[in-house]
Amino acid sequence: MRQMIAGNWKMNGTLAGLSAYASALRQGVEGVDLLVCPPFPLIRPLIEALGDASIWVGAQDCDAKRSGPHTGDVSADLLAELGARHVILGHSERRADHGESSTLVRDKARAASAAGLVPVICVGETEAERDAHETETVVRAQLAGSLPDGFSGLIAYEPVWAIGSGKTPSEDEVEAMHRAIRASLKKQLGEAGEAMPILYGGSVKPANAETLMRIPEVGGALVGGASLKAEDFLAIASAAV
Ligand code: G3H
Repeated sequence: MRQMIAGNWKMNGTLAGLSAYASALRQGVEGVDLLVCPPFPLIRPLIEALGDASIWVGAQDCDAKRSGPHTGDVSADLLAELGARHVILGHSERRADHGESSTLVRDKARAASAAGLVPVICVGETEAERDAHETETVVRAQLAGSLPDGFSGLIAYEPVWAIGSGKTPSEDEVEAMHRAIRASLKKQLGEAGEAMPILYGGSVKPANAETLMRIPEVGGALVGGASLKAEDFLAIASAAV
C-alpha cells in the first residue's frame, strides 16, 4: 500500500525559510503521499509556496469546539478554510505539555472530522511505561479513549522515549506494536480498522527510514526533526517507495 510520510515541524520554521523549503519539496517523490504540518501561521503561506505540487499541508492541533470564546485556540473549521487537509491530534507533547486527555483528543477528532479534516491520532508509551512492560496496555487504552465511534483517519504510533532521542524500538518491537494496534482498530472500528494507515514516529531519519518503512503494518512515518530539512524529508520519502 502507498505510504504516507508526514512532517511535524512542531514549534519550528520561519516565514523567511518557506520559499526555499517549498522549492526543494516541489521536486517531490513519486509513489508516496507527503504531508507537512507547520505551525498555524505558516499553513497558508506554505500552501501558497507549494503551489500545484501534490503535497498536503496540515495542522498540529485544533480545538474541540467549533468556535466561540476560547482565546488562543484555533478551530478545525478555520484550518479547513485555510486549506489544511490533515490535523495531528494527541501528540505526546500536547498530552504532556498541555495535559490533554484521550477524551479531549476524541472530542478534537470529532470536531476535525466535522470540518472535513483528516485526523492523525498519536499514541505511544513513555519510557517508564515501557520499562514496566505496560506498552500494549497503555496504547490500547489511548486508542480506546481517543478514537470516536466511526473514526476515519490515521494513527501514528510514537513511543515517547523515541521522540527526538535518536533511539528507536527494534524492528520486532515496531512490528509487534503495529500488529497490536491493528488488532485494536479492528476490534473498535470493524472493517474500517483493517486498512487504516498506522504511521511510525520517533527518530525517523534518512539512515533508518528504509528499515522502518519495510516493517509489516507500517503505513508510513510521522517525522519531527528530520522533516525540517527538505533534503532529509525527501530522503525519508524515497525510502518509503
Ligand atoms: O511528530 C513527530 C514525532 O514526535 C517524532 O519526532 O522525528 O524528532 O523524533 P522526531
